Amino acid sequence: VSKDVDLKTEIRRMCEEKKAVILAHYYTHGEIQDVADFIGDSLALARKAAETDARIIVMCGVHFMAETCKILSPEKLVLAPDLNAGCSLADSCRAEDLKRYKEEHPGYKVVSYVNTTAAVKALTDVVVTSGNAKKIVDTFPKDEKIIFGPDHNLGSYINEVTGRDMLLWNGGCHVHERFSVAEILKLKTLHPGAKVLAHPECKGPVLAVADVVGSTAVLLKYAVESSDSEFIVATEAGILHEMTRRCPDKTFLPVPPEIGEGGVGCSCNECDYMKMNTLLKIYNTLKYEWPSVDVDPDVAREAVKPIERMLELS
Ligand code: 13P
Ligand code: SF4
Repeated sequence: VSKDVDLKTEIRRMCEEKKAVILAHYYTHGEIQDVADFIGDSLALARKAAETDARIIVMCGVHFMAETCKILSPEKLVLAPDLNAGCSLADSCRAEDLKRYKEEHPGYKVVSYVNTTAAVKALTDVVVTSGNAKKIVDTFPKDEKIIFGPDHNLGSYINEVTGRDMLLWNGGCHVHERFSVAEILKLKTLHPGAKVLAHPECKGPVLAVADVVGSTAVLLKYAVESSDSEFIVATEAGILHEMTRRCPDKTFLPVPPEIGEGGVGCSCNECDYMKMNTLLKIYNTLKYEWPSVDVDPDVAREAVKPIERMLELS
């Protein structure tokens, strides 16, 4: 691409010309959120994918989000700027392992977090996001036997707030697993009045010191509506872009992840996968209408049921 090309202008022009919409998650780079037609959490993105009348959806997020778009809108061309943008949490649950686990636990319902592959969703009774998990789990009779996966931290949290004893898959997100109480308390000492906002993929002790636990959209809404002016944010740092844009007079303090012993470990609180989305890749994706994300029709036929059930219940 020539240096003279203004990527944002060209991207918007191609969206008009090709009847395309760009959906972006809050964890993507700020400049991608700025060029998108719609930004949101996983639930809002799924809803948007189901209702848009565009010909093309460019999903700037991670692979499972693009799959969800395709499952909900099979007639549309769903493009992903980088097919390598996966998700460590989705990777922690393989469909063949879940299938075996289900066979070992007859009579159990399967509740799966949206951060799963289409093949895992096809083995699921109802999909949830962090924004509606409690509400949806509450719809099951109290004595229902449930397998919840793949996020162990979210599952423990939902067990706690619903008073259930669901069987939990042992998966996790490599970004959220790294937030620690010690780092939050350090920030609290410097900013005693700050409210702690945490995503439920964080570990239990982090959630225990949080003032608000919720999906990215829930945390954002709280920050916008709150009369407080300082917030300690324990989730991927991309959300700070929209928090700061919506609340320019408030202070948002990202929690740095805990560094392992001897300084070993990644020192960033960013999701490498989400950050694989770039303006140049979006430009090329729109220009060449490639690469597309497709889901095996047999898998999609089964996977759409628990996603639609989620949309009905939430
Ligand atoms: P949200 O549904 O809260 O946007 O979370 C998506 C995600 O991948 C969290 O790590
Ligand atoms: Fe997956 Fe974690 Fe990245 Fe969310 S932050 S997309 S759960 S790897």
